[in-house]
Amino acid sequence: MTDRLKVGVVGAGVIAQVMHLNYLRELSDRFEIVALCDISDENAANNAERYNIGKTFTDWREMLEDADIDTVFILTSGSHAPIAIAAANAGKHVLVEKPMCFSVAEGLEMKAAADEAGVTLMVAYPKRYDPAFERFREVAVNVAEPRLMRVTTFESPFLPYIGHYPLAPVAPIPKDAIANFTAETQASITRAIGEANPFLREEYHLVLLDTLVHELNTVRRVLGEPTSLEYVDMQSGQLTVILKFGELSVAIHWMDLPGITRYEMEFALYGPQQRVTLSFPSPFLRSAPATVEIIEGESGTTKSRSISEITSYESAFKLELEAFHHCVVTGEAPATSAEDAIHDLALCEAIIRFVQDPRPISDPSAIPALASAN
Ligand SMILES: NC(=O)c1ccc[n+]([C@@H]2O[C@H](COP(=O)([O-])OP(=O)(O)OC[C@H]3O[C@@H](n4cnc5c(N)ncnc54)[C@H](O)[C@@H]3O)[C@@H](O)[C@H]2O)c1
Repeated sequence: MTDRLKVGVVGAGVIAQVMHLNYLRELSDRFEIVALCDISDENAANNAERYNIGKTFTDWREMLEDADIDTVFILTSGSHAPIAIAAANAGKHVLVEKPMCFSVAEGLEMKAAADEAGVTLMVAYPKRYDPAFERFREVAVNVAEPRLMRVTTFESPFLPYIGHYPLAPVAPIPKDAIANFTAETQASITRAIGEANPFLREEYHLVLLDTLVHELNTVRRVLGEPTSLEYVDMQSGQLTVILKFGELSVAIHWMDLPGITRYEMEFALYGPQQRVTLSFPSPFLRSAPATVEIIEGESGTTKSRSISEITSYESAFKLELEAFHHCVVTGEAPATSAEDAIHDLALCEAIIRFVQDPRPISDPSAIPALASAN
């Protein structure tokens, strides 16, 4: 394998087109897109033409068998576990979009396959590669006597954020494949949360896995593992989760506000002398910067000051791909490793358990199978 990695991409939908295919092309000194697979041949063909990709497939198994590739990007909408495990077994390095998969059990199988094959398995959490996040973390870990961390996400429609890109239309999953796709998705959800009611299944899939993994992963990278899950209020379109990290409470508020195209995800840590806030814009904007605001006071005086920082205009998605390339060629473990992402899945499963049986849960992100293996 040379340092220029031959990539097979699975999934040519929104995130593939807005981010990955675009940045793989920009990073053509490091990556060559050799094959593109989408269950809809229309999606594969349209993007193969745009990105000058030589081979297309509608079945990822055939791509793994026939294409000469070093690495597989898994950018599909269902659980990424079956494709990731097969790719690792075939000796390919793997980048999976978040959520890594649908359950701790699937995540452990993915990790085992990658470990066994000695390949890189990285989970795409772009916020972790944003230089503004590192700046926030550097300030946040030094806030004295922190009193509260508050996370607030205003979900909004995403189509207005992507209308200005020259994207190929994303055709729906073909009718003859829908039944199988839905059955596989539901089986993966059952593996995570059992025979839960339809509301909990949908919240687990579309709110916890699709969105809240970002908030959970970001908070964990700043504060470590939570000591308890104290409270969950889950309603249609809104979710509040309260976690404890030792003495510190973290309140996560997620809400869907479909009438306002103003996505925001904000992490704020408050101490007696300093408040620091990290604000992310819509993930669909390629180079809109995240901002860090630091507010400080002078005790006993009227004086206070606010500093608003922009750290970088680099795209976190592009930096994420650079980090993946680095890990593959050096063998270094990714910052957003399989183990890291499995802790987020454990937390998502614990949140559902709390809703079913509202009692605090200790060490909600713990993965007993990993603890005994380490
Ligand atoms: N990091 C972020 O901020 C971010 C943002 C959006 C989406 N995502 C993640 O990216 C992934 C894809 O999301 P999207 O919005 O692009 O979805 P999408 O529905 O627009 O695209 C998914 C594509 O995958 C194809 N596909 C589905 N199952 C397949 C299979 N088994 N084999 C081959 N092709 C298959 C579909 O035909 C479709 O073209 C999801 O995991 C999502 O959570 C991440």
